[in-house]
Amino acid sequence: EEENVGNAKQQLAKLFEVSLRRIVPDEQDVAPVIAASTGKFGDYQCNNAMGLWSKIKGKGSEFRGPPSVGQAIMKNLPDSEVIESCSVAGPGFVNVVLSKKWLAKRIQKMLIDGIEKWEPQLPIKRAVVDFSSPNIAKEMHVGHLRSTIIGDTLARILEFSNVEVLRRNHVGDWGTQFGMLIEFLFEKFPSIEDVNESAIGDLQAFYKASKQRFDDDPAFKERAQRAVVSLQGGEPKYRNAWLKICEISRKEFHKVYERLGVHLEEKGESFYNPYIPGVLKELSDKGLIEESQGARVIFLEGFNIPLIVVKSDGGFNYASTDLAALWYRLNEEKADWIIYVTDVGQQQHFNMFFEAAKRAGWLPTDGALKPKVTHVGFGLVLGEDGKRFRTRSSEVVRLVDLLDEAKDRSKKVLVERGWTEQELNQIAEAVGYGAVKYADLKNNRLTNYTFDFDQMLSDKKGEIVLDHDGERELGLHLLQFSEVVGSPEETSRLLLCEATAIVMRKCFNLLGIEPVYKI
Ligand code: ARG
Repeated sequence: EEENVGNAKQQLAKLFEVSLRRIVPDEQDVAPVIAASTGKFGDYQCNNAMGLWSKIKGKGSEFRGPPSVGQAIMKNLPDSEVIESCSVAGPGFVNVVLSKKWLAKRIQKMLIDGIEKWEPQLPIKRAVVDFSSPNIAKEMHVGHLRSTIIGDTLARILEFSNVEVLRRNHVGDWGTQFGMLIEFLFEKFPSIEDVNESAIGDLQAFYKASKQRFDDDPAFKERAQRAVVSLQGGEPKYRNAWLKICEISRKEFHKVYERLGVHLEEKGESFYNPYIPGVLKELSDKGLIEESQGARVIFLEGFNIPLIVVKSDGGFNYASTDLAALWYRLNEEKADWIIYVTDVGQQQHFNMFFEAAKRAGWLPTDGALKPKVTHVGFGLVLGEDGKRFRTRSSEVVRLVDLLDEAKDRSKKVLVERGWTEQELNQIAEAVGYGAVKYADLKNNRLTNYTFDFDQMLSDKKGEIVLDHDGERELGLHLLQFSEVVGSPEETSRLLLCEATAIVMRKCFNLLGIEPVYKI
């Protein structure tokens, strides 16, 4: 039987590779450049002619310019069932029309083998996707929602590509704010046994109140600072209080993840804390760390500020934690791609510690592709007033409330459409949360977008226009439905529809959206 031949683009790349080796045997490093084309001359295009021409023109070659290079590329293609016809256009673009027979064969094979056989091929074995990552006791805001949705989709696509994905929730569970939270907790609950979710209520409000106390009362502030030391020294009483606070936050986070159907594994900042001293010693031994105004820093070319890795009070920070986490992911978890999903506001932080990691020799600087690190940034979510998305009383929008509202609103829409009460609950969730995810993912990742429930859940009522040839053809087929039912083409068309449905279901699945089979 036919071996796993990859997708059309990979197939064509193999064929053009042969052709290139034939016409320019001395240019071993020239790889085929294949792109899907939107024009009507073909399905794909090979765009090597111009680049190749500029490489070989001085070398006394037989070619007269890019078009003749294009001709040669075309003529030297090996025979293949993949290609129906080829032509050369403009400055040597080689247009390829795929063979109908081959296309049909591929689709048919997918119907038998399953869509999983159409996975993209990536040169990656194990990836870390660091996403969602809210901060304990602080607000989990729409920014974290974006990170959760985008990160989940990236993880799904990698998993589909047979990459082992470590879905990491890098929660902010360490740092000086815990001193004040713990002290405040002791004040409110003299007996730690009394602490639970319902007693504390809203953890964000608790955070705010303790911050207020911290700012207002110098004696409290001092106690809070001592509490940090006790916590970091591992004193059980403080550690227990910290665990309690984390546990309550974690439960809140889980409610959101459960609704969104997103799976994450927590390794918070505290996890990497023990690794920081060793990692900083390595960087220091490599001569990267300097003293600057009482702090210990790494100066990096191209940045106007240094990366602070030890604060002037001797404490570690976000950057030292991220360096330790990167070290761990590379050396202990042996990830070959590490992806971080946060708002673009943190871009400089990532660029800086990526650069430090390169200087330390952890990441390739010689053009090698692995291991690699990527910051996937995203824009802000705005309210209708064009400012950061907040509630009317200018509080942070609680994500649980947001998801509740999405569900309620989609319920209303569904009732209007005549859905029955039993069907409603689960479907309202699929539609409501699906709408939130889709509204998030359809926007340009890097620009800000305005959050708008109405638009998100609006019916897709619109006018059908059949200007494009393909659209007209599809329209005609639909209209001929009753004429052709039972015709010989029918089985073929049913199979084609089934294949379409399979691909669409897979797309939904990769976006983390649950399809609903009724409209
Ligand atoms: N906790 C951070 C925040 O809320 C995001 C952490 C992202 N991950 C990382 N490794 N820095 O902004």
